[in-house]
Amino acid sequence: MKKYLFALIVAVLPVPAMAAGAGVPLDHIEVDLENKASLQRGMATFVNRCLGCHSADYQRYQRAATDLEMPPELVQEYMIFGDQKVGEQMKNAMSKEDAANWFGNPPPDLSLEARLRGPDWIYTYLRSFYQDSSRPWGVNNVVFKDVGMPNVLEDLQGVQVNHCTPEELLHQGKTEIDPLTGDRMSQCLTVVEGTGKQSVEEFDQTIYDLTNFLAYMGEPYRLESERLGTKVLIFLAIFFVFAFALKKEYWKDIH
Ligand code: HEC
Repeated sequence: MKKYLFALIVAVLPVPAMAAGAGVPLDHIEVDLENKASLQRGMATFVNRCLGCHSADYQRYQRAATDLEMPPELVQEYMIFGDQKVGEQMKNAMSKEDAANWFGNPPPDLSLEARLRGPDWIYTYLRSFYQDSSRPWGVNNVVFKDVGMPNVLEDLQGVQVNHCTPEELLHQGKTEIDPLTGDRMSQCLTVVEGTGKQSVEEFDQTIYDLTNFLAYMGEPYRLESERLGTKVLIFLAIFFVFAFALKKEYWKDIH
């Protein structure tokens, strides 16, 4: 019996998402699905910068509009390119074969990416591209070695260069911001000054918002369940008063 019980407990325990390239320290973020402004900014970045290559087949624009509290007309006007309608899924027109030819690997669907890799991995990945002239797109990535994706946000971040050996790079440690200078404290990767439109903090914020949005896409029902959960608790509290009153009424003649 004990054995079965143990097996049952193990089976229902959540399994933390395993990051590829295990061993590379990841920068930690706290996802905040209540921060609608962040999610809206993240969605804007996603449709502008990612959707051209990656689809999000499980996510409808309409649903995102409701969950992130945006008027569907505005989503239709500013977040949908091409002739898609707000009720459709976030797809793109790139064929898998073309994509595989261009990039080596096709860009995967990102609806469930945050559940697959975890938010920390995505947040670190998107900030870890660095110049590498031996690669087809001129960039490599610390957490995804020899990645087939170009650094599509380089105009915002700037050109990032690596000062470490490959071995050191894998153990570079957390890339925290120095509170005094605002510089990134990692010894390995630095942005060439004047090459990006955003400062390090601004870029980190952009990627935080984007990762937050990807985390939302992985669990769109979570916002809904939290909303529902509150209503159910309120209902139960009110119901309790009536149930209690009724119980008293029933029992009053017996005592
Ligand atoms: C020019 C096309 C292109 C654009 C634009 C693009 N990507 Fe990619 N991305 C790729 C390709 C190709 C891969 C697959 C790389 C590989 O497997 O080597 C990839 C891989 C990824 C992965 C890793 C997937 C995995 O788990 O294996 C993530 C995460 C990702 N992209 C996020 C993004 C985000 C977020 C954006 C928007 C800022 C974006 N990408 C924009 C082409 C693109």
